[in-house]
Amino acid sequence: MRTMGRWLVMLVLALLPAWAAAEDGAELWLRYRPLSQAARSQLQRRAAAIVAPAPASPTVLAAVAELQRGVAGLAGREPALSQKIASGALLLATPASRPELGPQLQELGAEGWLLRSTRLQGREVTLIAANTDIGLLYGSFAWLRAAQTGADLARLDLHSAPRIALRLLNHWDNLDRTVERGYAGQSLWDWWKLPDIRDARYVDYARANASLGLNGTVLNNVNAKAESLTAPFLAKAAALADVFRPWGIKVWLSARFSAPVELGGLKTADPLDPAVRAWWRAKADEIYRVIPDFGGFLVKANSEGQPGPQDYGRSHADGANMLADAVAPHGGAVLWRAFVYAHENVDDRAKQAFAEFQPLDGQFAANVIVQVKNGPIDFQPREPFHPLFGAMPKTPLALELQITKEYLGFSTHLAYLGPLFEEVLQADTGRAGTVARSVRAIAGVANIGTDRNWCGSQFDQANWYAFGRMAWDPDLGARAVAQDWAAQTFTTRPAARDAIVELMLMSREAVVDYMTPLGLHHLMGTGHHHGPAPWVDNLERPDWNPTYYHRADRGGIGFDRSPTGSNAVAQYAPPLARLWADPRTTPSELLLWFHHLPWNYAMPSGRTLWAELIAHYDRGVAAVADMRRRWAMLQPDVDAARHAEVAAYLAVQEREARWWRDACIAYFQSVSGLPLPEGVRPPEHELSFYKALRFGFAPGRGG
Ligand code: GCU
Repeated sequence: MRTMGRWLVMLVLALLPAWAAAEDGAELWLRYRPLSQAARSQLQRRAAAIVAPAPASPTVLAAVAELQRGVAGLAGREPALSQKIASGALLLATPASRPELGPQLQELGAEGWLLRSTRLQGREVTLIAANTDIGLLYGSFAWLRAAQTGADLARLDLHSAPRIALRLLNHWDNLDRTVERGYAGQSLWDWWKLPDIRDARYVDYARANASLGLNGTVLNNVNAKAESLTAPFLAKAAALADVFRPWGIKVWLSARFSAPVELGGLKTADPLDPAVRAWWRAKADEIYRVIPDFGGFLVKANSEGQPGPQDYGRSHADGANMLADAVAPHGGAVLWRAFVYAHENVDDRAKQAFAEFQPLDGQFAANVIVQVKNGPIDFQPREPFHPLFGAMPKTPLALELQITKEYLGFSTHLAYLGPLFEEVLQADTGRAGTVARSVRAIAGVANIGTDRNWCGSQFDQANWYAFGRMAWDPDLGARAVAQDWAAQTFTTRPAARDAIVELMLMSREAVVDYMTPLGLHHLMGTGHHHGPAPWVDNLERPDWNPTYYHRADRGGIGFDRSPTGSNAVAQYAPPLARLWADPRTTPSELLLWFHHLPWNYAMPSGRTLWAELIAHYDRGVAAVADMRRRWAMLQPDVDAARHAEVAAYLAVQEREARWWRDACIAYFQSVSGLPLPEGVRPPEHELSFYKALRFGFAPGRGG
């Protein structure tokens, strides 16, 4: 008996590493674990063979390989590639391989797909159809998703096409492999070993992006080094482009505006100087020689110390158009960022991008896209949408979202960003429909690194996923996306899946509540942006100080952006401007974004503003405690390794939520001089304790 027990222990120990490694998140949502017995049998019948157009392009081969891999995992049997239509075939078809399909596919454009269970030549087949090979790849992933999430594969009739043409990740990755605002290890791009060594993860990265429908990636940081445009680095970027190409992902590069000076030895980078223009044209020609399908340039200019056309008295349009001219002959585009605010400008920072860019509407070349952050400040837990959306009808715009959670607890806090993305995408501009309808492109600042789980935590994978799915279809909704992700990543059992989804859906508002409730913003620590620091008032630029944003004093709190203040409201469409000009008609979520109000201002709840603020901080902390309880109850439904890991992260989050609450209440009380409302727990420490905390090695500062 004793020997047997020891033997069992040894067996478990021997198996443990393999089992643990199998669920460390490395496979993302493409895990393809065996389905239930009934679902497996159905899948075996429905995917007995794959019929694909021949000769198969690399993209079709990628689709077939993914289908084989997926079915092998989910159903335990790999379908063979066949030329014959037999019962149970997955039939991949384009009008080139089956002209009769043409008329049915017209609406699908160049990337859309159709999935249909149907009969062909008397056989039951599943049609995966598209106008192009890349559409077939997206359709194959959609079919696998249907299989993974428990759809009835015998009755499939789905079709989908992307609403937004360009769907990109923006990596803020440096050439030394540090990642600005990265919380998931090093940069995935091993620049030193490229182009010769191509890490296997580059393919998995491409698979993951293609499974969501993303079609481009900007490889390097917007705070760009000129070196990324030198021949050796272009060869490295070309190697990545070669890996990504079958998966429909185009490579883009951030360009440093002063590169003609730094690399070309020119005296100027003036965009109207003929030598500068010639340098960029030659550079574009050189890039397209090695990356024939190069997407184009992303540019951060005259922003936070970056060089730009204004250094030469030229406008953003002059700068963007020069680069646009260089890539136009090759079909490339320029993404020109509108994230600008200037030292010298004493006006409300929230107004500056609109003030600079809106008057340029109509002056940009056709292949320039102006890339605008979701809100007018900087990726805060909550901001109103940026007033430029809908306000530049003659200029294509891109929406820039941040997937890496610089301001929402890095990768240690669980904050599902689906609701934030949905809020922005569905915001009605009052001018051109919703934000989603007003943009040509969408970019997400990536949260991807070398961590085994890719994103720094299990749940941060959901934010990459949600960005991609919502970029393809902005109307999907945060809940539906979370349902798919949870089913693909954790469990298809409906009760457990739904419990995970509920937890995800409450998480973003929890962060808003414990960090920046009621429209507060930009209260975080200096530089690294970790933790609360609402007291900071001594930075070199006024608009870097938290005190600039909350404006709390004895009399009240909040930034007056109404007509009596900075009048930032006037940048919005008149009906919205009217609504937000008055605190009584401003939604409470944005109250202190637009108004400075007395501490005793009467809130709709009947509480004073002071009491309401504290109630929100408490609600935020309570929500995280609730998230922990909900997660604990999911123990039987989630593998032990990931369950324990997430539980440990949630414990950190609860501790840090309390810290945010306590530090902010301690500080605001020192300013308001008001007693805490009855029953409110006092902060754990004196204000001086929180002020003295330092975080010298916080991640994400970049090189
Ligand atoms: C934020 C962020 C910076 C980044 C900048 C940008 O300010 O903290 O690291 O460079 O946004 O978007 O350009």
